[in-house]
Amino acid sequence: MAKTIIKNGTIVTASDEYEADILIEDEKITTIGKNLQETDAEIVDASGQYIFPGGVDPHTHLEMPFGGTVSKDDFESGSIAAAFGGTTSVIDFCLTSKDKPLSSSIQEWHDKSQGRSVIDYGFHLMITQMNEDVLDQLPSIIQNDGITSFKVFMAYKNVFQADDETLYRTLLAAKELGALVMVHAENGDVIQHLTEEALAAGNTEPIYHARTRPSEIEGEATGRAARFTGLADSQLYVVHVSCADAAEEIRKARRKGANVWGETCPQYLVLDESYMDQPGFEGAKYVWSPPLREKWNQEELWTAIKNGDLSTIGSDQCSFDFNGQKDLGKDDFTKIPNGGPMIEDRMSILYSEGVAKGRISRQQFVDITSTKSAKLFGLYPDKGTIAVGADADLVLFNPGESRTISVKTQLMAVDYNAFEGMEVQGVIESVMVRGRFVVRDRKLEAEPGYGKYMKRKPFALGSSSKTAASTSV
Ligand code: URP
Ligand code: ZN
Ligand code: ZN
Ligand code: ZN
Repeated sequence: MAKTIIKNGTIVTASDEYEADILIEDEKITTIGKNLQETDAEIVDASGQYIFPGGVDPHTHLEMPFGGTVSKDDFESGSIAAAFGGTTSVIDFCLTSKDKPLSSSIQEWHDKSQGRSVIDYGFHLMITQMNEDVLDQLPSIIQNDGITSFKVFMAYKNVFQADDETLYRTLLAAKELGALVMVHAENGDVIQHLTEEALAAGNTEPIYHARTRPSEIEGEATGRAARFTGLADSQLYVVHVSCADAAEEIRKARRKGANVWGETCPQYLVLDESYMDQPGFEGAKYVWSPPLREKWNQEELWTAIKNGDLSTIGSDQCSFDFNGQKDLGKDDFTKIPNGGPMIEDRMSILYSEGVAKGRISRQQFVDITSTKSAKLFGLYPDKGTIAVGADADLVLFNPGESRTISVKTQLMAVDYNAFEGMEVQGVIESVMVRGRFVVRDRKLEAEPGYGKYMKRKPFALGSSSKTAASTSV
């Protein structure tokens, strides 16, 4: 049995902070206490460091086809970058299509991830239609594949977008079967019309991506999905909330008692719409959907995090090279592949902008980057906390040093970083996944394929059932 004791660190969870040693035997934490001794254990000194639970990134698109190209970071480069950034589990979006059985899309996602990842990973499943055939497949997907969250796109008309009936029926099925419904909340029909108008007027630059997707359109779709959720008495997770308008809809739904949670992403907390309006084609680096917003939205998002109206931080990792991929849209902003490289810096940015700047506590940092995602997506308490019996997924974090984000030093496979030159407080020294150092003293130690596929537990609110995730969120 492999034994490790991490000594002298400060353990930080979503609720506590204390100094103690951690004994790890094989993959699990088996003892937490003062002055632990084991003759046959390797001793790791974590003096002066915080020990956080490994990050759980609930939102990635690794090697995902989009807009005639494929996102560049795959399960290998993406998971290595994630690990160096303190993330030990990711949940990636498995795309599906109307004309194939869902099982073949899931197999396709296994084929691209098998043997590649250095951290643990799971899948969400995209739902494009809801009918008897799909309903027949879902129980086995939840029970056997361990995929317990379904994603519905309310935007990307004629590509991913599903209609309201599909969303509503997915909410009903999820309630019945024990799954969490995720939505990309933007009104795709109105975006389509605004886009046609912009192009007809000759407005082709990247900034028009933002101007054709105003925040009203995100707020409207968020409110619509939240109302459907209340009506169906189901459960909803709104991905990548970018603006005050959408955060307010989530807040309203939660005040009414609806089971609605929201995620935001580092880019919406730090960058704003002006980045898309840079001369030349530079703005294409900042094309996400929903788009970056006017700066005043950022403090509203931080407030929503503090209040608990936004529960998690996803990276929405979906990276494309600036040269050769983003430039597909040089003459037409609608052809710029949407998304950016974010998996590596998600936790650093949140710590630096959140904790180091006094906006959130270290406990809140752990909660939004790890614990809440583990709870909502059926991974808790194996993932998302530091406790006896949990997986030894740990981050050794040195708060005293700083680093500068740059494409020159990043591990993500693309040719730019949207946060180029940003100084972040705190450095991730070592990262352990199930008892083994994947990153040690800032060097990679695990080989691709070490990461395991995670079958997740069904969604259940406060259930005492052993097989269901007790969310208590
Ligand atoms: O711009 C984004 N967010 N790209 C990834 C796909 C999605 O909508 O999440
Ligand atoms: Zn989306
Ligand atoms: Zn139209
Ligand atoms: Zn996404």
